[in-house]
Amino acid sequence: MKVLEVKDLKKSLSGKQILHDVNFSVQAGEVYWFLGPNWAGKTTTMKCILGLVNIDSGSIKIFNTEWLTQESKYKIGFMPENTYLYKYLTGREFLRFNGKFFDFTPEELERKIEELLLKVWLQDAGDKPLKSYSKWMLQRVWLAQSIINDPEILFLDEPMWGLDPIWRKMVKDILVSLKEKGTTIFFNTHILADVEDICDKISIIHRWNIIVESKKVSSIKKSLEQFFVDKVMSFEKAS
Ligand SMILES: Nc1ncnc2c1ncn2[C@@H]1O[C@H](COP(=O)(O)OP(=O)(O)OP(=O)(O)O)[C@@H](O)[C@H]1O
Ligand SMILES: [Mg+2]
Repeated sequence: MKVLEVKDLKKSLSGKQILHDVNFSVQAGEVYWFLGPNWAGKTTTMKCILGLVNIDSGSIKIFNTEWLTQESKYKIGFMPENTYLYKYLTGREFLRFNGKFFDFTPEELERKIEELLLKVWLQDAGDKPLKSYSKWMLQRVWLAQSIINDPEILFLDEPMWGLDPIWRKMVKDILVSLKEKGTTIFFNTHILADVEDICDKISIIHRWNIIVESKKVSSIKKSLEQFFVDKVMSFEKAS
């Protein structure tokens, strides 16, 4: 069953066309990797899907409905690339604030917050204000908020960026356990080696065009890094 379908998506920003006819679809339960060099249009595509920017033309369906309904928003999680946060809230308060958008009882929410802090290894920092968190701690608290509602589909924009191998492993373990629960995961990352064994499909976007669409990772015989570099280089040669 398709949970996300992007058709002929076009988007311009400040008079410059950023996305040209982006097409792909994601099936329920897939871990889908949206890959591309810097400035390829990955974040813009994700923002279009999540309704954070308006699209120029094309269509986006999530859970088989056009555009984002209130009901589908409840089933979505999102970790953005740039983490702007309420710096005077503590980690616990930030998660509580985010959790209040969903239907938790107060007791359920407190339980959930403790479970998440433990999951992202922030249990000792929960009462410290976010302004005292390192960049890496902020990324982890963002990851925690993105899964507070046990989303059916989770969007992650560069979840591993800047993390050392220990934290990358922590993120990967969280992704593996979500995948085992059947969560659909759609993410952008440049960190190829860490996640290739948990991804089902990839699309590659380059120079604002999809150059590889929904390819099964298991059908790729070389390393993903090699595959990615080869595809981008052959596109460059041909253009
Ligand atoms: N507000 C804007 N106005 C004009 N151009 C923009 C704007 N935001 C992004 N762009 C351009 O859109 C293109 C795609 O940007 P986007 O952030 O989607 O790429 P990305 O693939 O996520 O890159 P990165 O790997 O650096 O995160 C880039 O060429 C960028 O310069
Ligand atoms: Mg980006």
